[in-house]
Amino acid sequence: MRGIKPLVALSGALVLSMSLFGCQGEKASEGGSTTPSANGGSGKKLVIGFSQIGAESAWRTAETESVKAEAAKLGVDLKFADAQQKQENQIKAVRNFVAQGVDAIMLAPVIESGWDAVLLEAKKAKIPVILLDRGVKVSDDSLYTTLIGSDFVNEGRLAGEWLAKKLNGKGNVVELLGTPGSAPANERHKGFMDAIAKTPGIQIIKSQTGEFTRAKGKEVMEAFLKSPDSASINALYAHNDDMAIGAIEAIKAAGRKPGTDIVVVSVDSIRDAFKAIKAGELNCTVECNPLLGPQAFQAAKDALAGKKLEKKTVVPDVVYDTKPTDQFINDRKY
Ligand code: AHR
Repeated sequence: MRGIKPLVALSGALVLSMSLFGCQGEKASEGGSTTPSANGGSGKKLVIGFSQIGAESAWRTAETESVKAEAAKLGVDLKFADAQQKQENQIKAVRNFVAQGVDAIMLAPVIESGWDAVLLEAKKAKIPVILLDRGVKVSDDSLYTTLIGSDFVNEGRLAGEWLAKKLNGKGNVVELLGTPGSAPANERHKGFMDAIAKTPGIQIIKSQTGEFTRAKGKEVMEAFLKSPDSASINALYAHNDDMAIGAIEAIKAAGRKPGTDIVVVSVDSIRDAFKAIKAGELNCTVECNPLLGPQAFQAAKDALAGKKLEKKTVVPDVVYDTKPTDQFINDRKY
């Protein structure tokens, strides 16, 4: 494997640069057509394995679609594996990709820890690993090639600063955390705590995971609203829009007004979040861009061409807190 892989990687890089990133394919021998060829005329398609977490949120579905669409556009043979939220399934998928000798691996890691062994296997096979959206905690950073994603700490900080201002520096917040052990849950919590530490009148009075899903967000918020001190809740911070949207249902069912009685701030900026802002039920959403396909394949191309990549490419995010137009909502890509 050691001897063969660099050749595979090199041919992958050539295929990629010839056929997938701007060059026209070879003229067909008979018809003389110059339409782009899927394999650069070499007869070998680039093969990339993508281990995705699952489909817990609209954001995740948009990320999957972005990667699949880019693969289709570029003529890449994408091996897609849905891990159903389980790290063990992702480890199996990465091992399978290594065994198949794919040219590169894309991995959206469900949690941060526990990746050293399988990433070492990929490294030994000389297969570049591109981390998508979430980071990992490993003993040696060279176990992966690069990470493309948002700055989750900054997203949490933006949400916290926005909320502290909205509440005029005083209020009781409940928090819906993302998947336990995941980078966005850990880092969005940290960023938010850093922001509200500057405002002693703001405190988190309850914090529990809603696992990034609408159903769980609703269920946990229902429980928060049944607790003896529920009347003191002034605001909700949800680590993603789906949990916030589920929680908004629970707030309404409990006879309180989301967006007014309970201020709601969340992260992602999916289309449904803008609908909720328009309805006055969500106050603010901090964007986290899931449309990572084009950058991911560019990184794969660069890695296969032997270029040195930055360890992290941060995708910039913005804060939305004003009512959008219908046109804006219709044009929203996710
Ligand atoms: O890792 C990004 C997070 O994962 C998104 O904010 C959330 O919606 C998703 O499931």
